[in-house]
Amino acid sequence: MMTSQHNQAAWLQAGSVPCEPMPYGRPYRLVLLGPPGAGKGTQAELLTRTLGTCHLSTGELFRAAKCETNPSPALRAALDAMHRGELVADEVAVELVRERSRCLCCRGGFLLDGFPRTLAQAEALDGILTDLGLSLDLVLNYEVSLEEVVARLSGRRTCPVCQKVYHVTTRPPRVEDICDGCGAALVQRDDDRPESIRVRMQAYEASTRPLAAYYARAGKLVSVPAVGTPGEILNRSLQVIKAQPSFATWSGQPVGKAGPGD
Ligand code: AP5
Repeated sequence: MMTSQHNQAAWLQAGSVPCEPMPYGRPYRLVLLGPPGAGKGTQAELLTRTLGTCHLSTGELFRAAKCETNPSPALRAALDAMHRGELVADEVAVELVRERSRCLCCRGGFLLDGFPRTLAQAEALDGILTDLGLSLDLVLNYEVSLEEVVARLSGRRTCPVCQKVYHVTTRPPRVEDICDGCGAALVQRDDDRPESIRVRMQAYEASTRPLAAYYARAGKLVSVPAVGTPGEILNRSLQVIKAQPSFATWSGQPVGKAGPGD
C-alpha cells in the first residue's frame, strides 16, 4: 500500500509541503508514455502503491490550477488550450516541472505521467535531471487501440477532490457517481468531450508519439500492451521493470488483484 507519507500536495504546491515517502528498495525514476486514455494515471496509481514512488502528473497540476482565483495570463492561456484538448505551451509545462525539482529529487523516486509530451520537453527534462545529478531509469510506453481509447475516455469519471479515476463500466465506484475514497460527487472531465478527444489524439500523434523513438534511441524505452484489466497491465509493467538489469534489487511483489474494480 502507498504510505501515508506520500503527499500529493507537495507536487501540486511546488514542494512547499513536506513529503516523506518510503521507497520499497531503490528509488525508481520512470516516465509513463501513451495516448490519452491509455490508462497512464490508473497504472501510476497502482505502481505507486507497489513501488513506493510518487505520482507526478502535469495534467493534475493544470486541473488543480483551474481553482486559482487570479490566474496569470500564461496560466489562463494554458487552461484555455487544455479545455480545447490542445497541448499547453512547452515553456509553461517545463517551468511547472522545474519549479518542482524537489519532487524529482525525492528519495522515493518518481513516476512522471503526462510529461514530457514533446521533444522540447524531453530535452528539457534531460537537462533538469542532469542538473540534479539524476537520470531516468525507464520509459514505459503503453500501447492501445484508438477504439479502446475512445471507450475508456467516454466512460471516465474523476473525483474532483482526491483525483481518483473511475470508469462507469470497467472500474465503477461502489456507489454510483460517488468517490469511494472521499465521498465527493464524481465528474466527467471537460476535455473528455468528443471534440476535445479528437484534438488530444491529434496532438498525441503529432507531438508525443515521436518521443517513443527518442527514448528508444536512448535505450530507455519498453513497450507495454495496455489491454486487459488494470491489474493485468500492472503485472505486465512490473515484469518489464523487474527484467531491467539496473533493477536487480527490486523488492516489491506483483499483485494479483490491485483494488476494487480492477
Ligand atoms: P493529462 O491529464 O495528462 O491527460 P492525458 O495524457 O490525455 O491522459 P488521460 O489522463 O486522459 O488518460 P490516462 O492515460 O491517464 O488514462 P486513465 O488512467 O485516466 O493531460 C490533460 C491535458 O493537460 C492535456 O490534454 C494538455 O492540454 C495538458 N497537459 C498536461 N501535461 C502537459 C504537458 N506536459 N505539455 C503540454 N500540455 C500538457 O484511464 C482512462 C479511463 O480508462 C479511466 O476511466 C479508467 O478507469 C479506464 N481504464 C484505465 N485502464 C483501463 C483498462 N485496463 N481497461 C478498461 N478501462 C481502463
